[in-house]
Amino acid sequence: MASRDGPASPQTLALVVPQVRLPKPPRPLRVGVMASGQGSNFEALVMASRHGGLFAEVVGLVVNNPQSMALARAKGLNVPATVINHRHYSSREALDHVLVNHFSSLQVDVLVMAGWMRIVSPVLCRAYGKRLVNIHPSLLPAFRGINAMEKALAAGVCITGCTAHLVVPDVDAGPILIQAAVPIYPKDTMATLAPRIQAQEHRILPMAVAMAGQHLWHGQ
Ligand code: GRF
Repeated sequence: MASRDGPASPQTLALVVPQVRLPKPPRPLRVGVMASGQGSNFEALVMASRHGGLFAEVVGLVVNNPQSMALARAKGLNVPATVINHRHYSSREALDHVLVNHFSSLQVDVLVMAGWMRIVSPVLCRAYGKRLVNIHPSLLPAFRGINAMEKALAAGVCITGCTAHLVVPDVDAGPILIQAAVPIYPKDTMATLAPRIQAQEHRILPMAVAMAGQHLWHGQ
């Protein structure tokens, strides 16, 4: 019987990605990214748009945290980046209005929360509708909210993963676009599990952006 203590090949990934065949958009999608931390998902999107199958251009990054590593990545990748510090705004709505104005000026089609550690308000959700995407390190609806990987480890589940989903004004709750399943092995710690999940995030997020972009051409 399969269990967390059962035999497993440590590097084997249980990856579940549906075969997504989408019509090619009439022009490259203009993608905006919001990040707070390391920015590896931001970089994955840039690489997918330049060298992978994502027919898109990442036209701008916003970080809320001036220390975010994503800023350095943007510089190295030559993507325009802006700091919009949430501490300078009195409410979530005030911050989101500034974000909407910023990304509107860049004519962004699909906006991605790639490790954006802020709860968004209806202002952002209304502006981008089905073209606002989040990446979350669990198989939603399991382990919503922060520390999802830690929660999966603590719960003793054998399989976790990541989810790319549309954003609604409730945390990690919007319609699921695509998921990848990742096994948890008996000796896993955050140090071993996190990179395994992130590798799959980098794979599914570009697909999810392409899926969300379809809403542009199909009037939703
Ligand atoms: C990812 O694990 C994502 O699922 C979560 O925040 C993390 C961001 O990582 N929302 P990075 O900054 O893209 O490296």
